[in-house]
Order: sequence, then structure tokens, then C-alpha cells
Amino acid sequence: MSNSVAHGGRILSGMRPTGRLHLGHYHGVLRNWIELQQTHECFFFIADWHALTTAYEEREGISQNVWDMAVDWLACGVNPNLATLFIQSRVKEHAELHLLLSMIAPLGWLERVPTYKDQIEQLRERDLATYGFLGYPVLQSADILIYGAAGVPVGEDQVSHVELTRELARRFNHLFGREPGFEDKAEAAIGKMGKKQARLYRELRRRYQEAGDDEALGEAKALLESQQNLTVADSARLAGYLDGGGRTVLAEPQALLTRAPRMPGLDGRKMSKSYGNAISLREPDAQIEHKIRTMPTDPARVRRTDPGEPDKCPVFDLHRVYSDTDTRQWVETGCRSAGIGCLDCKKPLIDAVKAEVGPIRQRAEALEDDPEQVRQIVADGGERARDVARDTMREVRAAIGLDYRQR
Ligand code: TRP
Ligand code: SF4
Repeated sequence: MSNSVAHGGRILSGMRPTGRLHLGHYHGVLRNWIELQQTHECFFFIADWHALTTAYEEREGISQNVWDMAVDWLACGVNPNLATLFIQSRVKEHAELHLLLSMIAPLGWLERVPTYKDQIEQLRERDLATYGFLGYPVLQSADILIYGAAGVPVGEDQVSHVELTRELARRFNHLFGREPGFEDKAEAAIGKMGKKQARLYRELRRRYQEAGDDEALGEAKALLESQQNLTVADSARLAGYLDGGGRTVLAEPQALLTRAPRMPGLDGRKMSKSYGNAISLREPDAQIEHKIRTMPTDPARVRRTDPGEPDKCPVFDLHRVYSDTDTRQWVETGCRSAGIGCLDCKKPLIDAVKAEVGPIRQRAEALEDDPEQVRQIVADGGERARDVARDTMREVRAAIGLDYRQR
């Protein structure tokens, strides 16, 4: 991970419901979540609205995919006693925040998000010229900001979305983080400081705002701290007045880059359902065996007596994930000297993958037999998520002026 979030910082992440998960999801994402849930408050959700942004016609699949994904998460060890698991569309507040953020999201920012053009290029057969698709990262920003998440574990491709989230939070706070009459109140507070000190404060503020002089900012903050005759509220106002911002209503999250290595698929490319090179988390033993036995090897090793080169072999890529140094050493020596055959080489991998997938598959089967348990877990998670989301939305509405309290 690129940086650690202090204990106590909330973690949030989501996955689009694309159906049953495979070993790439497990090694790339879920193992990381399972570790994080031990030390942090974690919210994990199924991003079903996001699935609609690129596949709005595929109504039949979506509900099956959502339940399959919930089962796979639980079967892998995402623990509902440690983490809050829920379905995005069950927490309507995400939609409200998405709408409000869309009011202040500049089109230019959205069009410049790298995934926007990439996806349009890659998914040419889909109609992505929709309002919803352009707003994909705005919805994602709402997902994150509504829980005040400190850390968002994501892959490389999602970092730009977290960056946009930070920019939207900053823009929101700048526009709405100020109480009504903020400037007048700040000016009145300056008046309470005494002539000389007030002149100094204005001078430092000007230096910071006009020239970005950080030293001036530091001095101004120190000046405020030394003021005995300012109330706490006035002091906070004047601190906010320095950089032109106001209160922080929406907190800026950090992207936590998952440090897991890329999971190789059966053909050496990245494991992906669309490449047909994946082993599913519920793959039966016989299938695991078949898939690994028929994996391509170093093409130069045609006969058993030909020496091979592990660095040119997708099987060895899997050994890097599953085998200890001794086994890898055994492969390297045996392959280069033609001392072992490719099936010998694959045997420990077949065993390792079976040992990993077996218990996951069994837990998934048990959960499939008890759908009520899964439904209950996701319903409880939804309740907990809504409690937090509701509080944030109360603040957000008040900041914008949509709370319509009696005057
Ligand atoms: N866009 C993410 C993906 O495709 C899924 C997602 C939606 C997400 N909302 C999120 C991830 C919020 C992290 C935080 O993988
Ligand atoms: Fe690949 Fe192993 Fe065969 Fe070498 S022995 S070519 S590493 S499968």
C-alpha cells in the first residue's frame, strides 16, 4: 500500500457486480480487504448502479451477479462482524449526494478523467454516450465522500477517480463550507485583534493568498494562537479566512494502492474473465486440475528432453504466486536441465490452487444453501451504512442551505 491510514480512519471500497469472482479478484483485492478489516473500520459495497452505467440493458444478470458477489466475498473471509457489507442502491443517499455534486462538477474535469475516453474506445459496441456514464466518477465520489472515508483501496486504474473525489470535496468545501455572513464575521473578528496585530494578520493573509507564501501562513496561524482576546469560534473563522476556505464538510480521501502483484492467468496474460484464462473461486477440483494440466508452457520446450526457460513460461508465473523458494528453485533447476517434466512442474501448483479454492468453494456452497443468511448480512450492513450516510447528508444539505429550518 502506498501509505497507511492512521488507525481509526474509515476504509471504503466497492466492486461492480460482474458475476462470480476468480483468483485475480482474490489475490488482487479481497485478501487486502480481509487484512484491512482486522485493523480498520471498513465499508465494502456492491456498486450495482455503477454496473448500470456501462450495461444498462443487462437487467437479467444484475441481481444474480449481486448475490454471487456477496457470497464470494463472504466465502473468502470478508467478515460481516468486522466490516459493513452492503448494496449501493439500497442506500439512496448516494444518489442524492451524486445529484448535488453533479451541480458543481465541471464538465471539463469529467471529460479529462482518463478512464472516460479509454472505456469509450474499448467498449465500442456499447453506447456510452450517456449522461450516467460521464457521471460515473461523480457517483463514485459520492460513494466515498458520504462515508467520510479516509482511505480507498483501489487498483491503478481507479486512482484518477479518487483524485477527482478529492477535487470535488475541495470545491464543495470552498463553495459551501462557509457559514452565511462568513466574510463579515471574519472581518469583525479582525477588528477585535487590536490595530497592530490586525494589520499584521492582513499583511500575512495577503502574502499567502497572493504569493502562496507558506511561511506567511504559518506565521499567521501562530499569531492567531497567541491572541488571548479572540473566542474559539473567531479564531477558527480567521484560520479559515486565511486560505479562503471554510469548514471542512466533505473530507478528502487517500487512494490506497493495492500492492498485490498482478495475478497471472492461465495463458500468462493478466487473469480476466473476458480472456477466458481464469480460475473461478468456486472451480471444482477436477476443473482446476484440467485447466492447469492443459496450460501452455515455454514454447521452446517441445519434448520432455528439451530444456526449458521458466522466465518464458506462464506456469512459472503461477509458481511465483503459490510456491516457496525451495519449490521455485526445484522448478528452475529441473526445467533448465530437463530434469523434470512439465506435468511434474505443474503438480505442486495443482495442489496449491486446490488447497486455496477448496475451502472457499465449500463455504460458498454452504452460503448458497442459506440465502436468507446472506440477505440478512447485506440488509444489516445497509442499515449501518444508511446511518452514516444520513448524518453526512444532513450536514451537506445544511451547508448548501437546503435544510429549511424555521427562521
Ligand atoms: N469504480 C470501481 C471499479 O470499477 C468500483 C467503485 C464504485 C468504487 N464506487 C467506488 C471503488 C467507491 C472504490 C470506492 O472498480
Ligand atoms: Fe514451464 Fe515448468 Fe515446463 Fe519449465 S518445467 S516449461 S517452468 S511448466
